[in-house]
Order: sequence, then C-alpha cells, then structure tokens
Amino acid sequence: MEITFRQTRANEFRETEHLTREVFWDVYKPGCDEHLVLHLIRKRQCYIPVLDLVSVSGKEIIGHIICTEARVVDSRNIEHPVLCAGPFSIVKKHQGKGYGSRLMEYCMERAVELGYGAMILFGNPDYYHRFGFRNAEEFGISTRDGMNFDPFMAKELQIGSLSEIRGRFYEDESFYVDAARLEEFEKLFPYKEKHVTPTQLKI
Ligand SMILES: CC(C)(COP(=O)(O)OP(=O)(O)OC[C@H]1O[C@@H](n2cnc3c(N)ncnc32)[C@H](O)[C@@H]1OP(=O)(O)O)[C@@H](O)C(=O)NCCC(=O)NCCS
Repeated sequence: MEITFRQTRANEFRETEHLTREVFWDVYKPGCDEHLVLHLIRKRQCYIPVLDLVSVSGKEIIGHIICTEARVVDSRNIEHPVLCAGPFSIVKKHQGKGYGSRLMEYCMERAVELGYGAMILFGNPDYYHRFGFRNAEEFGISTRDGMNFDPFMAKELQIGSLSEIRGRFYEDESFYVDAARLEEFEKLFPYKEKHVTPTQLKI
C-alpha cells in the first residue's frame, strides 16, 4: 500500500479526532479522552500546525500524530522547550504493518528539520524503544509531579540536546481533560459503550 505523509488540513480536524477516538477507545481505560485532547491542542498556543501530521493511502487517512510545544523547567526555574508527542493513532485495520513506525519516523524527521532538540512522551516502552526513546529518568527529567516510570520517555533529536537539562516536564494543559467537558464533547460523536478490559492501564 502506498502511503504519503503531510500536514493535517483544517477540514480534516474532525475526521482525525474521530480516528483518535476509535483507536484509543477502551485501550487505556473505559472510553478515552485523547480525541478531546487533540481538539483542545488545536486551539492553544502549544499547537504546531506543521507537526500535526497524517499518513494517507489514496484518499483515506490511515494514521495521525501530533506534537506540541512543552517545556522542562529546571531547579532555577529556567524553561527549556521540548516537544511532547501524541496522541498517535493508526486506524485499527492497518495496525501492526509498520505504518505507525513510518509515521513516527517521518514526524521525528520533520521535528529535526524544524530545529527541535528533544521529544518526550508517555507510551509503551516496548514500542518506543525502537525509535531511540529512553526512560526520561536517564536524562534527569521527571514528570511535573516529580515522578518517573518506564512509560515516561525522552529522546534527543539533536545529539546532546538534553545533556545540560535537568528538571520537570510540563506538557500543555490540554492534556488535562475535565470530565464534564468530555461528556459534552462526546455528544458530537456516535454513542459508544465503554468497557473495562483486563489489558487496560498497562500503557
Ligand atoms: C501504537 C500505534 C500507533 C502503533 O502503530 P502500528 O502501525 O500498529 O505500529 P507498527 O506496525 O509500526 O509497529 C508494530 C509493532 O509495534 C508493536 N506495538 C504496537 N502498538 C503497541 C503498543 N501499544 N505497545 C507495545 N507495542 C506495540 C507491535 O506489537 C509490533 O511489534 P513488532 O514489530 O515487534 O512485531 C497503533 O498500534 C495504535 O494506534 N494503537 C492504539 C493507540 C495508541 O496506543 N497510541 C499510542 C499511545 S502512546
């Protein structure tokens, strides 16, 4: 299947939100909020249109990834800009065929071209280690709450970009979704039943 990559167009925002909802639904918790996160990101200063990317086969969008501006704040309160990657989605029927890897590689290449130094994300280490992501603790970076755990990972896009940076990672506020807002937003989409599954919460 021939795939091309490009920036998401404004008239594809709802379609990519829908894709995100379909792909994340019940995966990490009953239902999901990643589609609302994506919606909110696009209205905020953290939004980087050229890093709002889709992979396309013919006329079909089969994958989407977005990176936002985030920061690592050090002990002297100095802010260091980094990218936060995600949500990241591949349409279910196309998963496991390498399309996600290609989209992630394309996204990282674009980020390098744009001069960004580092990318940080929350995800499954089994997946992201293949792209060179490592536990953020190895770089002296913790979450905003001072926590570290395997799914919290960082990658230098430019060699040495994280060598002088230590501190807490602050992703944009759009990642903190309000339950009432989510309930309202859900009304714009077809109803879906939420399920508790044994694999949830593993990331
Ligand atoms: C994660 C996702 C974007 C990867 O895209 P993909 O096209 O399926 O991935 P690829 O085909 O490039 O890679 C497949 C490999 O990744 C592994 N993989 C895929 N999703 C994974 C996950 N969530 N955790 C761990 N490994 C995963 C597969 O087992 C496979 O491993 P192998 O190469 O050793 O056989 C896609 O599966 C998806 O949309 N998942 C649901 C939403 C999600 O979890 N997004 C990421 C949030 S951090």
